[in-house]
Amino acid sequence: MSKEYFETVAQEWDTLREGFFSQAVREKAFAKAGICPGTVAVDVGSGTGFITEGLVSEGVYVIAVDESESMIRELKKKIQSSEFGCCIAEVEALPITSGSTFYVFSNMVLHHVENPPSAIKEMARILRPGGILVITDLDEHQFEFLREEHSDRWMGFKREHVKAWFEQAGLTNVDVDCVGEDCCSTSRSHEQAQISIFVASGSR
Ligand SMILES: C[S@@+](CC[C@H](N)C(=O)[O-])C[C@H]1O[C@@H](n2cnc3c(N)ncnc32)[C@H](O)[C@@H]1O
Repeated sequence: MSKEYFETVAQEWDTLREGFFSQAVREKAFAKAGICPGTVAVDVGSGTGFITEGLVSEGVYVIAVDESESMIRELKKKIQSSEFGCCIAEVEALPITSGSTFYVFSNMVLHHVENPPSAIKEMARILRPGGILVITDLDEHQFEFLREEHSDRWMGFKREHVKAWFEQAGLTNVDVDCVGEDCCSTSRSHEQAQISIFVASGSR
């Protein structure tokens, strides 16, 4: 499933990712959160550190969490900063104290998890009062090949569902907006996917 897929592609993930979406996704996510240096953030499903690297360069201490050992190995090769820690764990059971972090980011992870509302609840749990959760992911789409070729579990999401899941997790000021960028991919049989990306944010 998804775990095996990411163990296999870890070494080439940065190249694959650059083909899927641009840095604008990260910029939009950071703008929604209003990043302050000297704070602590958790990057859930960090992969090789697309979000983590950006946060570290903004002066934020980051804990990167991913279930894939290979992804975390690649991440550690790239980031040697003392402003960074990481662990191998699942989104559904984050090894992080409740109410302890200023920000939680999760980019392109929700469509891989078994139970998206539970994952959102778990991410909201670790936010301190006033802390902000920012999730960037795919709008609902019809491209089946992403399941077969990239181990996607969900074919994107309806924004009203994501908004409701944030509210059910006890978050306020919930907003689900356009990133203004698409995720692009071409199947083995040359089918072309172009899927809009949303940015969802809410505070505790
Ligand atoms: C599409 S990649 C995105 C990686 C990174 N966020 C980025 O933007 O490049 C999805 C990541 O989520 C991780 N992942 C998927 N399901 C997970 C789960 N249930 N718990 C923890 N990590 C998970 C995968 O191992 C992979 O690194």
